Amino acid sequence: MTDLSGHPTQILRASGVEGRFMRRYSGRNARHYETRRQGPQWEAEAQAFRQLYKRVSPRSILDCPIGTGRWLGTYQRTGASVLGIDLSDDMLTEAAKKLRPNAGVRLERGDLMNPSRPAALGSGHELIVCTRFAHWLSPQDLTVLFGRFSATGSRYLLLGAMVRPRRRVQPNPSQKGWRDHLKSLRTWLRPRPPEYVHDEAFMLQALRECGWTLTARTPVSRSRGVHYYFYLLAGRGANGAEPGRTQSCLRAGGKLDSD
Ligand SMILES: C[S@@+](CC[C@H](N)C(=O)[O-])C[C@H]1O[C@@H](n2cnc3c(N)ncnc32)[C@H](O)[C@@H]1O
Repeated sequence: MTDLSGHPTQILRASGVEGRFMRRYSGRNARHYETRRQGPQWEAEAQAFRQLYKRVSPRSILDCPIGTGRWLGTYQRTGASVLGIDLSDDMLTEAAKKLRPNAGVRLERGDLMNPSRPAALGSGHELIVCTRFAHWLSPQDLTVLFGRFSATGSRYLLLGAMVRPRRRVQPNPSQKGWRDHLKSLRTWLRPRPPEYVHDEAFMLQALRECGWTLTARTPVSRSRGVHYYFYLLAGRGANGAEPGRTQSCLRAGGKLDSD
């Protein structure tokens, strides 16, 4: 049975909704995670992923959270060695079903966000993959994660995130459509964990402060002013330099692997 503690965002940890959050990733939900995720949006994601992955052609990968191991087919086809980390045992069980004999893949349970029992992320990976996770993290928690990634001294980071351009004009509430009203009612009846659409300028600044430089940005989809991109970022490890973090990254990241 999956341990339901450790939701990524502080708000959720405090509000006690985290059990419901992690139920999305356990039992039946874990088993059907991928069969429910088909269609143009998912195909667009896979295309963006392949495009950026090819630019790095990594031999070693840290995928976290790896979930059901959506990208394991590509990793194994290209012969990369993989460390996959996730909080949910049930998601890891699904990922393990994709492993070929003698695959160079290690799957480990770990908490990416809890500083008192941090996951061991290893070091010197050629590529870190982090998809479909950033929207669960507050901007502050996102910076913590970037700091942790930076501490591994890895070469590249492939990150998926929903963002909005800075200073987007908020829609007038009186102009709400029936879909918005329905959504509000649904949220009121069945509270959902918050999903974050990040301010892109803030996010890229936080990445820079943690040593990650934007290399490429591939659009996945766009809806109502929200842009969903896959980003490829070069870390300090890309140039063979020592991993390092600026003071602001350290401050935001709090305790890191090497602390
Ligand atoms: C939406 S899934 C994304 C999985 C995969 N990256 C993908 O693109 O399909 C989110 C995953 O985050 C995991 N997760 C949530 N909080 C976590 C945490 N604090 N540490 C590690 N994994 C976590 C969940 O178990 C789930 O598998």
